[in-house]
Amino acid sequence: MQRGMQRDSAILGIETSCDETAAAVVRSGETMLSNVVYSQIAAHQPYGGVVPEVASREHLKAIVPVVRQALSGANETYNSIDAIAVTQGPGLAGALLVGITYAKALAFALEKPLIAVNHLEGHIHAVLLEERQKGNHELEFPVLALVVSGGHTHLYLATQSGESWSYENIGRTRDDAAGEAFDKVAKLLALGYPGGPMVDKLSKHGNPKAIKFAGSQLKHPDRNKKDPQNDHPRFDFSYSGMKTAILRHVETHNLKPSIESRRNALAPIPKPKLEDYLANCDRETLGLIASFQRSLVEDLVGKTLAAAQAYNVKTLFVTGGVAANNELRERFEQDGSRAGLRVMFPSRPLSTDNAAMIAAAAYPKFLAGDFAGMDFSAEAGLVLR
Ligand code: KG4
Ligand code: ZN
Repeated sequence: MQRGMQRDSAILGIETSCDETAAAVVRSGETMLSNVVYSQIAAHQPYGGVVPEVASREHLKAIVPVVRQALSGANETYNSIDAIAVTQGPGLAGALLVGITYAKALAFALEKPLIAVNHLEGHIHAVLLEERQKGNHELEFPVLALVVSGGHTHLYLATQSGESWSYENIGRTRDDAAGEAFDKVAKLLALGYPGGPMVDKLSKHGNPKAIKFAGSQLKHPDRNKKDPQNDHPRFDFSYSGMKTAILRHVETHNLKPSIESRRNALAPIPKPKLEDYLANCDRETLGLIASFQRSLVEDLVGKTLAAAQAYNVKTLFVTGGVAANNELRERFEQDGSRAGLRVMFPSRPLSTDNAAMIAAAAYPKFLAGDFAGMDFSAEAGLVLR
């Protein structure tokens, strides 16, 4: 199709909701022309978690070069793009505002349409973008999406009517997000920040059955709960109990000295690698790590598949940072196919935060003419519907 025709449009996506400054250009919701992610991990590492003030400052420094790189990588210019899409929320208000303010300024100066995107919808469209890129345009409904990241653990039933998508939340975490549990346990055990990727790698070296966490601490009796609004069954999650169980295990098994010696041994290494951690983790610690991951994965997969069965789902999306986890993917693939489900994940680069997913989620809104005015603002707690 010709450029400028409605169905062939290049959208610039901008994402600054947390600790990644990202920009990407996606053509017609299906062809990723560029995808630039500037990670702020190094800036937050000394604090062991994301510091909102630091995140805003880092976004301010990175936003202009990251957008320029995304445009040049796509062989596009400020003038050749058809629309600008930006994450409105949920996320850190100050961080979101950097992307929103820049996107508004660009849209105003270039006289291009502006599209506000929910970050969680972005994670869902990361799957759709890559499926379309592979040539798969068929989707069997109902679709269930598990969005599982550092800030979120949500189950959505996704429906499409014409070009528009809508979402019904049928489950969420009552306390910590799954990625937050990975990060907090990793921090407790001195495994670096963010901890998910290292827990993933180390788990392969430990016995996942070494420690039995009591089921009652891991499972939430929500399976029979109904949504008071519509009487639909709910499938909520809870991960703070698991975190506390690990803390208690560390205390009762006197693991603090070995954690401290690991912390001291790794402190001088600028970017510790898997081998560095392995050299400083004994069998007991590796067993604890593998058992934690096994428990969390079993809980996530079990509840999600129970929800899929209750809603007679045909297709399951698993997306968000924690969807990069190897054991989670394997479990979903095995148990999902046994349950007759088609399970789809984004590639690992599109599992974690990026702007290609924002540009992809904006495309149906572009087609529908669903544009944002200049008066919208960041919404830290934006709900997906
Ligand atoms: O989607 P994302 O980049 O940001 C949010 O929207 O939160 O997700 C980041 C989260 C972090 O908690 C990180 O530890 C986790 O995803 N994560 C992983 C893995 N890779 C990233 N957790 C488990 N296994 C992984 N391989
Ligand atoms: Zn995210």
